[in-house]
Amino acid sequence: MPTRRDFLASTVAAAALSSAQRHHAPVALAPPLTRPVVLASANGLRGVKVAYDRIVGGADCLDAIISGVNIQELDAEDQSVGLGGLPNAEGVVQLDASCMHGPSKRAGSVGAIEGIATPSLVAKAVMDYTDHIMLVGEGAKRFALAMGFKEQNLLTEKTRQDWLRWKARLNKDDAWLDHNDDVAIKFTTGTINMNAVDARGDISSVTTTSGMAWKIPGRIGDSPVIGAGQYCDNTVGAAGSTGRGEANIKVCGAFLTVEFMRQGLAPEVAVLKTLERLVAMTEPRLLRPDGRPNFDIQFYALAKDGRYAAGTLYDGAQFAVCDDRGARLEKCVSLYPRLPR
Ligand code: GLY
Repeated sequence: MPTRRDFLASTVAAAALSSAQRHHAPVALAPPLTRPVVLASANGLRGVKVAYDRIVGGADCLDAIISGVNIQELDAEDQSVGLGGLPNAEGVVQLDASCMHGPSKRAGSVGAIEGIATPSLVAKAVMDYTDHIMLVGEGAKRFALAMGFKEQNLLTEKTRQDWLRWKARLNKDDAWLDHNDDVAIKFTTGTINMNAVDARGDISSVTTTSGMAWKIPGRIGDSPVIGAGQYCDNTVGAAGSTGRGEANIKVCGAFLTVEFMRQGLAPEVAVLKTLERLVAMTEPRLLRPDGRPNFDIQFYALAKDGRYAAGTLYDGAQFAVCDDRGARLEKCVSLYPRLPR
């Protein structure tokens, strides 16, 4: 005998089917399509095109953006990430990266990993093949080697020379003879962040970096911290950051930006509100006499419906985007006017 519950279920199903048939509609509606968009920091101009083409070709959105950031990781000329990234105080290149895959709600991260040029791929391997989210230092490297990644020297001759110049000018009383050349000492908190939404509305995010130049060995910035360096929620959107990681970690800036979008704010309002929070959380020693931070930082925000924006403290920064109008640089919104040179 069918139970009352079976009967009710079959009646409801029959009613739904006949209603759908009357309106010639499928019973299970497909999710609405959106327009694919890839958003990145300005150094991702080549990468957003590669990622966009892969997404349009049907690739998973996280795989696509990781192939986008791999271009910078493997480019020895980009001194803010991967091979050729500026080293720590001891002349060792230590890399950070993290990623999130919206549709499967998974994340992976590595911090202070040495000898592997593509930490974004190691972060994805942590996500794909372990029950953990974050591996750091020697353990992260051993995991990468076990997964088949190849170890290489990431310190190029150019970055070694920059490190030597930094050492030579570190302190007038130390044992290193000061150089007399005028070459400016490079410093970077550069990084590459990339976010994408595909035609199904699936979202992913990735951030990878060599971190703060000349950092204390073992320093980990915001990039590998899920919710700071990048974050995505497949129901809302994605966000990420480049610039001074110590400032971002305190406000969980990528998570906060996604939360502002969840509240209904447009991406450009969300990044500005995150910047305002960051300024409010800046310790006095890092404020200029006018009360504004003495560093810069950027946030990138991509909504599920394809709207996007990037924001910077001081006017002048750009970001990269690719959609059906092609790859291009656009201007970040800013909290303050450009700093005088
Ligand atoms: N945002 C990169 C870093 O501070 O390490």
